[in-house]
Amino acid sequence: MATVLRTEPIDAGDAGFLRGDPITGDRYYSKDFARREWDRMWTKVWHVAGREAQIPEPGDWMTHHFGRESIVVIRQTDGSVRAFYNTCQHRGNRLVWAEDGHGQLTCSYHGWVYAADGVLSKAQDPDDFEDGSPCGRVSLRQVKCASWGGFVWYTMDPEAGSLDEFLDPIPDLLERRDLHDMVRVVWRTISVDANWKFASDNFNESYHLPTVHPELATTTDEDYKNTVFESYPSGHNRMIEQGQPSMRAPKPNEVEAPFGDMLREWDLDPAEFAGRARDGRLALQRQRRALGPQRGFSHYARYADDELTDFFHHTLFPNVTLTATAEGTHFFRTEPDPHDPEKCTFDYWFMAPRVEGQDEVMTIVGPRPLKEAPHEFVEYGSGAVIEDMMDSFLIQDLSVAVGQQAGFHSRGYRDAILSGQESRVRRFHEVLNDYLEGRR
Ligand code: FES
Ligand SMILES: [Fe+2]
Repeated sequence: MATVLRTEPIDAGDAGFLRGDPITGDRYYSKDFARREWDRMWTKVWHVAGREAQIPEPGDWMTHHFGRESIVVIRQTDGSVRAFYNTCQHRGNRLVWAEDGHGQLTCSYHGWVYAADGVLSKAQDPDDFEDGSPCGRVSLRQVKCASWGGFVWYTMDPEAGSLDEFLDPIPDLLERRDLHDMVRVVWRTISVDANWKFASDNFNESYHLPTVHPELATTTDEDYKNTVFESYPSGHNRMIEQGQPSMRAPKPNEVEAPFGDMLREWDLDPAEFAGRARDGRLALQRQRRALGPQRGFSHYARYADDELTDFFHHTLFPNVTLTATAEGTHFFRTEPDPHDPEKCTFDYWFMAPRVEGQDEVMTIVGPRPLKEAPHEFVEYGSGAVIEDMMDSFLIQDLSVAVGQQAGFHSRGYRDAILSGQESRVRRFHEVLNDYLEGRR
């Protein structure tokens, strides 16, 4: 069941393909650097505006406020989507502020009204304009927009290549996951006092797992020797960790919770794996393969064996990580604060497959109904308590992000000293430099 890739990875887990660009602290706090990121990178790449499921009907719209820009995406009568700058053509007022809505877009300043196709349909005193009524002649400024994986994407660059080209080879790698059909059961935005790049760095390595997430050792083998690391010419990366106890776990050969619970859930007796816990991974694959369909997990039939147990992290340049697991796909994204490079927002979405007969799904914030979630906003800043997340790996990652942000300011820090498996961290910065220096 091997995937045929359009593009092969460019590294085999060593750093030989890198230039060695330094990862200096100012990249994380300099306003000038952030401005260059905006001018040369953010305004060139493709962005996720939201989920298709947010705008199912013609006339439905949703906004994505990004930096100082805002984009409005509207479902057309033929089912396609179009995206526009969310700014009134009359005198520049931001047109709509809500996250989503339905019907014509009305400007709150002088009441100009725009139809779903972006064309002005109504204006006050149309006869008072020198060239005649602006209605039918004036239109919102459109941006390129396309869909993949149930996400609506757009780019502010009129010269940008296709979304397909931009994403390559991620759609191939995630082909069997049916992301377009998944339900976003957690939709949360967290404010963090750190530069947005911490997440791109962090999700590109498994080196921090034993120290930052020691509790994952019973289920996640973070050892670089057992982990797949890949970089692609497009700037995206992939890392695959095996779903089995790490040899660094306190008792690596014994089945500990929650690995034991997982086995039990699939009718396997943890006692049978005493002294050989890591065999549980293959047994779990066989069991999910055998029992999945009758338990409503019809999608398991399409998954490769490893996809039934392992963690497939895809870091999409610059700011999206999609971690595909047998339970569902995690979407992580950081976006820069429009004014302060030392702040960002962190989006966490969990997208669950539809399972026949199941109306609830387990997530890192507890059980959630298997239906589209409302958007929650949470303050973390530099360490506020988020009740339902305190035990999750996410808060652990956020807390080190804040500590690292402090360290970046020190004259004692010059450049990162990276292990082999952290090649993708430098790779990320080199791709960013390619944008900033006009090579992409
Ligand atoms: S600025 Fe929108 S109607 Fe005047
Ligand atoms: Fe982490």
